[in-house]
Amino acid sequence: MATKMRKLPSAVLLLLLVANLGWAWALIPSSPAGLSARRYDSIFSFGDSYAETGNNPVVFAANSVFNLVTRPPYGSTFFGRPTGRNSDGRLIIDFIAQRLGLPLVPPSLAHNGSFRQGANFAVGGATALDAAFFHDGSDPGNKFPLNTSLGVQLQWFEALKPSLCRTTQECEAFFGRSLFFVGEFGVNDYHFSFPTKSLQEITAFVPEVIRAISMAIERLIKHGATSFVVPGTIPSGCTPHILSSFAKDDPAEYNSTTGCLEDYNKLGMHHNLLLQEALEKLRGRHPDAMIVYADLFGPIIDMVESPRKYGFEDVLTNCCGGPGALICGDQGAHVCEKPAARLFWDVAHLTEAAYRYIADGWLGSIDSPATARESRYQLVR
Ligand SMILES: *[C@@H]1O[C@H](CO)[C@@H](O)[C@H](O)[C@H]1NC(C)=O
Ligand SMILES: *[C@@H]1O[C@H](CO)[C@@H](O)[C@H](O)[C@H]1NC(C)=O
Ligand SMILES: *[C@@H]1O[C@H](CO)[C@@H](O)[C@H](O)[C@H]1NC(C)=O
Repeated sequence: MATKMRKLPSAVLLLLLVANLGWAWALIPSSPAGLSARRYDSIFSFGDSYAETGNNPVVFAANSVFNLVTRPPYGSTFFGRPTGRNSDGRLIIDFIAQRLGLPLVPPSLAHNGSFRQGANFAVGGATALDAAFFHDGSDPGNKFPLNTSLGVQLQWFEALKPSLCRTTQECEAFFGRSLFFVGEFGVNDYHFSFPTKSLQEITAFVPEVIRAISMAIERLIKHGATSFVVPGTIPSGCTPHILSSFAKDDPAEYNSTTGCLEDYNKLGMHHNLLLQEALEKLRGRHPDAMIVYADLFGPIIDMVESPRKYGFEDVLTNCCGGPGALICGDQGAHVCEKPAARLFWDVAHLTEAAYRYIADGWLGSIDSPATARESRYQLVR
């Protein structure tokens, strides 16, 4: 594909990439009165670059490669300035917050103010597994640069908790009226591993990633959380980054309908299948909790297969980045004329237009109470 990445150390590249994959097809159940009656008082969110709303500039404040997202033209479509979001505008979580009548979810590390209406712990590049998993044993000096895993984000949540509620009763009441987003997680675990592990080896540790997500949900339930949206992973094999970095000579490696690299998408499908099985088990153990699987994979594939339906003129190349080795956020990098006619904003993240379609998709299916009851399990197309 036409997209070219500058030659960066692979870990850096992945980070950028990964920084924000993610999101879902969620599922907000509505009250019988509809969304006008506010059902949730707050949103707490854990995830990576597909979900983060501005922690990255704090985490990577001094790192000029990692903090490209703090530079224009990120944010140009909606905010008019970079906000730390890996897009030209709002993300799925922003559209959901707005629709639920809540403020945009403030980044937990960067916001100087109240978190009573929610906090977003997501950071670009975050993994489900802890940093130690990614340490290269052959080189003790080669430390995985991120300490922002799901487990670390949970520690941030637990550190914030005493400012939100004190007694068990108070916390159960407060978190019981909060919506928890757990994910997207997984994409970075896999992307960071692509340079050093085979797809077969990566597939073998998917259950470990799923276990980390399940355990996080159990831990949040102990704190009083009852309502969860758990996004699956994106079709990585459709991202401009994967299409350019792992381009194949053999046309059989590409899906003839989508043009995506099939093996990378199969990894995502496997993850999503195991995730849904794990969520089903959690529902069995916690019948009072609402645990919804949010499909991110399906809507993106649909946009790739039927771009016209969404007004997209281009779906497999990025709007921002280039020419040559320039990447989005670099001075002189190119920006396409109509971001709203594109699926990908940069090489790994979607445009606001695409996020809006995904958010609308799931918000639409939660408008009726009957659908909401079913969507306790899953929002499907
Ligand atoms: C946070 O807000 C308070 C009150 O508005 C202000 O006094 C303080 O300087 C702020 N802190 C930072 C780090 O901006
Ligand atoms: C990672 O972050 C956690 C939570 O902030 C902290 O307790 C831990 O010491 C950090 N680990 C490293 C290796 O920096
Ligand atoms: C091509 O991709 C579509 C969408 O993911 C999938 O349904 C189909 O099975 C794929 N085809 C092949 C030959 O893998």
